[in-house]
Amino acid sequence: MNNSTIKIRPMKAEDFDVVVAISEKIFNIPRRKYYELKFEKLFKSKGYLPMSLVAEEEGGTVIGFIMGELYIGEYGIFDEEARLDTICVDPDYQQKGIGGRLISEFMDHLRNNGVKKVNTLVDWNDAKLMHFFRANQFSPSKTINLERNL
Ligand SMILES: CC(C)(COP(=O)(O)OP(=O)(O)OC[C@H]1O[C@@H](n2cnc3c(N)ncnc32)[C@H](O)[C@@H]1OP(=O)(O)O)[C@@H](O)C(=O)NCCC(=O)NCCS
Repeated sequence: MNNSTIKIRPMKAEDFDVVVAISEKIFNIPRRKYYELKFEKLFKSKGYLPMSLVAEEEGGTVIGFIMGELYIGEYGIFDEEARLDTICVDPDYQQKGIGGRLISEFMDHLRNNGVKKVNTLVDWNDAKLMHFFRANQFSPSKTINLERNL
């Protein structure tokens, strides 16, 4: 596979099954409900601009995706900050620059819509993922996430 034959395009509602399948292949757990809610927000809610993309092979097989959302405020003015929720590349296609391309096109898309900052949550102990985000110019934010066990 040659990275240049991979096409990045906007996610469509019909990509639901392949998104769920790639996620399950990576995490070994079905997250159908999680993606149902995400897709509902992306394709049915008027409050959010769809910002999600997929990477597909020449033959049209989807091999990765990135999901994020941009809140459309009052009077149709977009927020200056957007969130990157999930990025997944099929394990058979990782380490070939596809994750990097998904991030880069996601950023271009947001920049063109006036977004100034993108945030995402990453497990501090996941060294591989921290490295990936650092390599893609993400850095720790000035706010920290507090939690309390119940
Ligand atoms: C994180 C993730 C999306 C990265 O995807 P990826 O396609 O492997 O990412 P890239 O190929 O762009 O970058 C990974 C490495 O491959 C290297 N690489 C880039 N282009 C390459 C190429 N053409 N050939 C070989 N290696 C290449 C990059 O330099 C990078 O190396 P580094 O780790 O030393 O920086 C992927 O590992 C994944 O799906 N992880 C599981 C899901 C997950 O945890 N998601 C995040 C939370 S939702």
